[in-house]
Amino acid sequence: MSSASPSTTHDTEEARDRLRRARRVLALTGAGISAESGVPTFRGPQGLWRDFRPEDLATPQAFSRDPLLVWEWYESRRERMGSVQPNAGHHALARLEERVPEFLLATQNVDGLHALAGSRSLVELHGCLWRVRCTGCGAVREEREPFAALPPRCRCSGLLRPDVVWFGEELPRAPLEQAFAAARAADVVLVVGTSALVYPAAAVPEAALEEGAFVVEVNPERTPLSAACGVSLRGRAAEVLPLLVGGGA
Ligand code: OAD
Repeated sequence: MSSASPSTTHDTEEARDRLRRARRVLALTGAGISAESGVPTFRGPQGLWRDFRPEDLATPQAFSRDPLLVWEWYESRRERMGSVQPNAGHHALARLEERVPEFLLATQNVDGLHALAGSRSLVELHGCLWRVRCTGCGAVREEREPFAALPPRCRCSGLLRPDVVWFGEELPRAPLEQAFAAARAADVVLVVGTSALVYPAAAVPEAALEEGAFVVEVNPERTPLSAACGVSLRGRAAEVLPLLVGGGA
């Protein structure tokens, strides 16, 4: 077993071979897979959490204190993300889904790029930036257009909020359960572009390791998960995933 040292051709070949033979695969993605589409990550030198404090913007308390401030931040992210496109990493995962008999993609991302790339067997663990939820009547709807006025309101006059998971909130139960079930059943788990720091999502590959799955990590940096992985490939998702999956443009 190789581990966290710079990845080698041998590691890449082993990961490719494991994926080729696997019948049950779970992919877990984080902000890093969208980095090459131009979506900023949360941590690291250019990360969103360098300039903003999560507790000012991404907590229920922040929203009750100042819904306008929170909405201005989410609208600026929605505006920025409105024009971004999936990259070769997203497309490679959509191709992988087509050839693996049992495949699930669990993403922590709220940018909607996996769906845009054609992934169908997809669960969004942290919600989606393109949906809103009414804090009054609870209705959820897709909303891609910018709002005429902030903070936006529902037809029932309740305050709308982004349908994303904030710090201190529970993750939606069904997607999380699906991710854990897929992790426990998987032959191979592919962990891409996540710092593996935020729980409970970070516990998903841990559950897979406990059940003996082969875990492949793709990340330019080392993470707390790296040492336990079957192979940890140091590289960018948009470059490494097409090598692992093949068949790309
Ligand atoms: P982070 O910003 O914590 O981590 C991004 C990871 O992507 C880092 O480990 C980078 O090394 C890696 N990375 C950067 N560029 C990459 C590339 N081109 N290819 C592959 N990997 C690359 O983002 P997440 O792990 O997704 O939660 O963060 C988890 C959660 O914390 C987010 O969903 C969000 C955040 O606070 C909520 O908002 C609830």
